[in-house]
Amino acid sequence: MIKGKKISLVLTAMDDRRRVYEWCFKSETTKSHSGPPDYPDKPVPTYEEFCASYYEEYYFTGTRPSDGRGFLIIADGAAADNETVGFISYCAFHLKPSIAELDIWLNSEANCGKGYGSDALISLGDYLHEELGFKELIIAPSAKNVRAVKSYEKSGFKKTGKAMSEFLLDEYISVYGGGDYGADETAILTKKFSPQG
Ligand SMILES: CC(C)(COP(=O)(O)OP(=O)(O)OC[C@H]1O[C@@H](n2cnc3c(N)ncnc32)[C@H](O)[C@@H]1OP(=O)(O)O)[C@@H](O)C(=O)NCCC(=O)NCCS
Repeated sequence: MIKGKKISLVLTAMDDRRRVYEWCFKSETTKSHSGPPDYPDKPVPTYEEFCASYYEEYYFTGTRPSDGRGFLIIADGAAADNETVGFISYCAFHLKPSIAELDIWLNSEANCGKGYGSDALISLGDYLHEELGFKELIIAPSAKNVRAVKSYEKSGFKKTGKAMSEFLLDEYISVYGGGDYGADETAILTKKFSPQG
């Protein structure tokens, strides 16, 4: 378990896969990042597409920790009732050495804006640096997703002028080089750790 100030991160299991999908793509927070009206060019995938193309089994089984892993975000404390409020993951299979990409979504509007997202990003980032040796993190929301960008900046990420292709291994440039929202609409933010930590 990874402990933050407001949240804990708990490794996901296969049983969590369906609800993690629903929080992302079938919940009231989906409209912030996918589907019409704001994201007509980013359709909501089916569960089968999610499993095949977005979140393969190893995110939930831990069999490929150097490629990626998922975590449940649990809000700590009596006031929060230790509620599960969302999901965060890292992946690195497609990136140059020592770089990991983060993804995060909370499961309701009521859980947004309380600092859970920022705390999860800081906590997972520190773990990835201290325990797994990653030196740089990247996160790439839609530029229109103002709340997400603000949360990531609060978590120590900074907007970069670099293109997504600069972070990717050559064989993945044709697949992921445009970013999820296209080169003009994807905001790329990075967080670098100093060599001393
Ligand atoms: C993005 C997300 C993970 C951030 O987590 P969070 O816990 O809501 O973020 P935080 O509370 O730490 O920070 C959000 C900040 O944005 C601000 N904010 C909220 N709505 C805003 C808006 N419309 N415009 C500007 N700022 C906004 C909040 O006030 C807060 O800043 P503050 O703490 O300085 O007041 C969460 O909001 C979420 O899951 N959203 C829906 C799904 C999503 O968009 N996922 C990201 C896909 S890339």
